[in-house]
Amino acid sequence: MFITFEGIEGSGKTTQIERAAAHIRASGRPCVVTREPGGTEIGLKIREILLDRKHTGLDADAELMLYMADRIQHVKTVILPALDRKKIVLCDRFLDATLAYQGYGRGLDISFIRKLHRTTVGGIEPDLTLLLDLPVEKGLGRAWERIKKAENAGGESRFEEESLVFHERVRKGYLALARANVGRIRVIDAAKDMETIHREVIQIVSAALGVEKKVPARF
Ligand code: TMP
Repeated sequence: MFITFEGIEGSGKTTQIERAAAHIRASGRPCVVTREPGGTEIGLKIREILLDRKHTGLDADAELMLYMADRIQHVKTVILPALDRKKIVLCDRFLDATLAYQGYGRGLDISFIRKLHRTTVGGIEPDLTLLLDLPVEKGLGRAWERIKKAENAGGESRFEEESLVFHERVRKGYLALARANVGRIRVIDAAKDMETIHREVIQIVSAALGVEKKVPARF
């Protein structure tokens, strides 16, 4: 099973994905946690280019192609092999991020992005996507707090430096994708506290996996 986590900056998806993985592993199911961009060694180099705050001149089409290159490498060398071995794959961002950021955010052609995805990786789609949704001001506030605390992550802020208007477009894009994919994308209110979100995530993931539903009160 292929499960993705999506959301704007500061939605808390990285914390939630780790906790969901721990829960799945505790139930005895093998699970792989990965992310985009940067889920492979080559992808990590692509990630550096994409997120470097100094790269203000990166062209939108070039940006799209870098995300696609990262994904092709990732799907072929990490995601598909893990799914073939019957592992549960939890991925921090996937195609929906490209549709939301490069499509809705940058205004690139959504049908072209989908076509690229079909041509290069056969149109692989997650079985389930958890969209952690929250107001842009709140998400960006959290993201900047984290960036300021983590000295080494200071350079990875090219997207956080985008305008509020850009991030509003991304959020609206994600919500539009959720409306168009009701069966696959589940929207979670990420403005709630971490424990409540965790419980909701576990309920949805457990139902999808048919694993034990007991949710620990505290992790
Ligand atoms: P992260 O902070 O969740 O690791 O994501 C890195 C950034 O890359 C985040 O600002 C969203 C952006 N992004 C895109 O613009 N398009 C994509 O296809 C992906 C996967 C991420």
